[in-house]
Amino acid sequence: MFKILAIGCGNMGGACLQAMLVGSKADDTLFDIVDRNTEKRKIFESLGVRNSYSKVPTQLDNYDAILLGIKPLASAELLFGIKNALANVSEQKRPLLISMMAGITMDALEQNSGIHKRVRIMPNLPVRYGRGTCAWYPLNLNAHELKRIEVCLQTMGQLVRLDSDDALDRFTALIGSGPGYCYYFIDAMAHAAKTLGFEHQEASEMLAQTFLGSLELFQKANTGIETWKDRVASKGGSTREAYQIMDDANLQNCFTSALNAAYQRNVELRKGSENEF
Ligand SMILES: NC(=O)c1ccc[n+]([C@@H]2O[C@H](COP(=O)([O-])OP(=O)(O)OC[C@H]3O[C@@H](n4cnc5c(N)ncnc54)[C@H](OP(=O)(O)O)[C@@H]3O)[C@@H](O)[C@H]2O)c1
Repeated sequence: MFKILAIGCGNMGGACLQAMLVGSKADDTLFDIVDRNTEKRKIFESLGVRNSYSKVPTQLDNYDAILLGIKPLASAELLFGIKNALANVSEQKRPLLISMMAGITMDALEQNSGIHKRVRIMPNLPVRYGRGTCAWYPLNLNAHELKRIEVCLQTMGQLVRLDSDDALDRFTALIGSGPGYCYYFIDAMAHAAKTLGFEHQEASEMLAQTFLGSLELFQKANTGIETWKDRVASKGGSTREAYQIMDDANLQNCFTSALNAAYQRNVELRKGSENEF
């Protein structure tokens, strides 16, 4: 039996929890949850959580792991509460701490919670349906704990192991923000499609299906993305004509600047939260 207390079941915490609840049905992982919001608790009760609370329970040493899905700004008080609740519990008997909070470093987690065994994760929203990409950065876990957490996180989709706070910031710039980039591209193309006589909504739906189908082809074939890019654009054809416009506008440079700006912002947020703690 592996008992997890999930604190904060909003957008991201809820998406992770849903994937874990569905994916862990066959194994012996049990979930209790904490969220102030009654409606959110009801949703997860119907999905099979064991107990749900509006406040963090005072006894925490009966859990194997605590999963934190609250906003970073709300975390200092909560982490101090956890530290107090575990003050008389030996280090060996303390639950692991799993945090999805962006910008809250491994050091800050330990200092504020008193928990030595920690995992930082960075999921993206498609984890809700087991189709996300989630980074994990475990620290001080033994082999058994690593396996246990890995199995749990694999319910969310593709899992990428990292080994520093900085690597998480880089991953966040590319993949944490990835769903946003997808929606941004489709929105921009759908606006452009108006010049061809399509409605924005109609074009968005067709483009989304085109992205989904094209990416399924890519994932199922053992062929690199550059080959696909060439294969679908014959010389002298219209797709290549469109590529030329994007090359002339130096889209590649634009992507490089965008990703680096996102990374720098993640570093600033991390440094800012280090000062607040
Ligand atoms: N959204 C993303 O794409 C994304 C991606 C990766 C990581 N993250 C991380 O995920 C975390 C959660 O973000 P989110 O967008 O899911 O936040 P959210 O939607 O605001 O969810 C947080 C939930 O926790 C509840 N809560 C907060 N403090 C609580 C407390 N002390 N006791 C009980 N319930 C409490 C909130 O209730 P109230 O609404 O009443 O405050 C809310 O229902 C953040 O740390 C963020 O950095 C988010």
